Amino acid sequence: MSDAMSPSAPCPIHLEHVRLLRGTTTVFDDLTLRLNESRIGLIGDNGAGKSSLFRVICGLDKLQSGRVSVWGYDAQSRPAERVGLIGMMFQNPDDQIIFPTVEEELALSLSPNGLPRKVNCQQARAVLTARGLGDWAERAIGSLSQGQRQHVCWLALMMASPKSVLLDEPFSSLDLPGRVMLDLEISKASQQVIVSTHLLDHVRGFERVIWLDKGQVRADGDGASVCAAYEADVAARCLSPHFKID
Ligand SMILES: Nc1ncnc2c1ncn2[C@@H]1O[C@H](COP(=O)(O)OP(=O)(O)OP(=O)(O)O)[C@@H](O)[C@H]1O
Ligand SMILES: [Mg+2]
Repeated sequence: MSDAMSPSAPCPIHLEHVRLLRGTTTVFDDLTLRLNESRIGLIGDNGAGKSSLFRVICGLDKLQSGRVSVWGYDAQSRPAERVGLIGMMFQNPDDQIIFPTVEEELALSLSPNGLPRKVNCQQARAVLTARGLGDWAERAIGSLSQGQRQHVCWLALMMASPKSVLLDEPFSSLDLPGRVMLDLEISKASQQVIVSTHLLDHVRGFERVIWLDKGQVRADGDGASVCAAYEADVAARCLSPHFKID
């Protein structure tokens, strides 16, 4: 157990009685969750609320009521207070990437260090080179494939090195080697890592998996049993007459 996860440390992420509307949809109504474990998976159908949960933890959406704290700070407080505490890899890399080139995007992750941009760009190049991706440095983001952009987002997050990392469908566009590599990097990461995914094998071995269903926790426990419960439910639904595709 790392110091960050020691019993005396504040709960990394704590949601209390959260109510969230997005548009006219009630996404969460009185959701309470303590997220203490170092590896947590988040599963559930499309629209269950996985991305919304991450947005709430990052303070991106205003709550109707309730409270979210992240390492002791209110998630709706000023973003500057949360620098270094939480980082998110978006489901769609284009929602995350700001700068036109890979090097500039990665350098942004280092900007809290206060060093000149040129120095941070050099550091970004060094990171890319160490991974055999030196030729990406000056590439326009728009020239990268979807999976390559997802890879850039992961690198940016690792360089920012927040205490808690939220990965929203991080495997969705990665090729097989990329998925294996990301699994390995997640297993080695010193931070708390929370992964939302439809690819259950990536979280089945986690100490904790939460199955969200229409904004509510349907099951919460060790990865093997929660993934099995979700799969059994999906299998049962597939037998329902409502599931037919004409
Ligand atoms: N901008 C929005 N305006 C209105 N409703 C929204 C908006 N974004 C999401 N929703 C609704 O909120 C609910 C939760 O969506 P969310 O994106 O959190 O689901 P998800 O579990 O991440 O799904 P997926 O597996 O498809 O990524 C859905 O009913 C969705 O239609
Ligand atoms: Mg989502």
